[in-house]
Amino acid sequence: MKEYRPGTFDSRIIAYEKVHQITDDQINALVGAVGLKPNQKVLDGCAGYGSVTKWLLEKNAKEITSTCSFFVQDDSLVQIERAKENLKEHKDIEYSVEDIKSLPYKDSFFDIVVVKMGLHENQKEVQLKIAQEIFRVLKPGGRFIVWELFLNEKTQPIFQAFMHKKDELAGFDTLVTKRYFPRGDEIEGCLSGAGFINFKKELVFNPFLSTKARFDELISRELKESGKVEADEHLKKLASERLDTLNNFFRGLPDEQKQVIDFEDRGDTIIYYNIDKAIVSVEKPL
Ligand SMILES: C[S@@+](CC[C@H](N)C(=O)[O-])C[C@H]1O[C@@H](n2cnc3c(N)ncnc32)[C@H](O)[C@@H]1O
Repeated sequence: MKEYRPGTFDSRIIAYEKVHQITDDQINALVGAVGLKPNQKVLDGCAGYGSVTKWLLEKNAKEITSTCSFFVQDDSLVQIERAKENLKEHKDIEYSVEDIKSLPYKDSFFDIVVVKMGLHENQKEVQLKIAQEIFRVLKPGGRFIVWELFLNEKTQPIFQAFMHKKDELAGFDTLVTKRYFPRGDEIEGCLSGAGFINFKKELVFNPFLSTKARFDELISRELKESGKVEADEHLKKLASERLDTLNNFFRGLPDEQKQVIDFEDRGDTIIYYNIDKAIVSVEKPL
C-alpha cells in the first residue's frame, strides 16, 4: 500500500465536491446525523482527503470537538497524504493507511464511524465484510453513518455501466473490477446482515450530474504519473476525446433507460438525474 499503485485511488485525484455537486444541505444532514457529543471517538473510514472529518471539525463547537478523538483511514497512502494536507490546521488527528475490512482497533473502540462513498468501492460480498468489521469496532450503542449511492432496480445497471465505462477510459483498472454500486435495499440488507438496528434514512437526494464534470478525472492518472501539476494541451485533448467517447456511450443507451435518468444531451456534455444517494444511520445494539 505504500508503493504507488497505478489504476487505483493512488491515481484518482479529484474533488468530490465538484464531481458530485455536494450541497450545504447534504453536509448539514451528515453533521446532524453524526450528532457529535463530547469525548467521542470518531472514525472517518475510506476517508479520501478527509472532507468528512473537516466538516465535523468545522461545523461543531470547538468545546465539543476539542474533547473528541478523530481517526482518518484509507487504504491509499496518496489519499492519506491529501487528507493530511487538507486537515493541516487541525492537530491531534490519527491517520492510518489500511484496508477497512480489517481494522487494527480493538472491539468496541469507536462511538461513531462514518463511511462516505466508500462501500461502493468494494465488491458486494466485501461490503458485508466491511459492515461486520465496523460493527466489531463500534461500542454497543455506537452509530454507523453511511453516505452512499441509493439506487433502484432501474438506475443501478445504468449507473454501474456508466461508471464502468468512465473508469475504463480513465485507466482506473482496479476500480473497473472492484466497484459495486448498491441499491438502497442492498445497503439496508448489508447493514442489518452485519447486526445493526434502527436503520434510518437521514436524507435521500438526487444530485444533478453531468459527464463534463468528469473532464479532469479522465486524465487524472496521466497527470499524476507525469508529475505535472496542471494538464498541458496534449492531456486536455486526450480528456476531450475521452469525454466524447463517454458521451457517445451514453447516447447509445436504449430510449427507455434514457427516460429513467432524464437524459439531456447538451452536445459537449450530458446531464442526467435520478441517481439517488442517501445518508443513512444505524446503531449497534446495546
Ligand atoms: C470515492 S472516495 C471517497 C472519499 C471520501 N470519503 C469522500 O467522500 O470525500 C473512496 C475512498 O475509499 C477508499 N477505499 C476504497 N476501498 C477501501 C478499503 N477497502 N479500505 C480502505 N479504503 C478504501 C479509496 O482509496 C478512496 O479514497
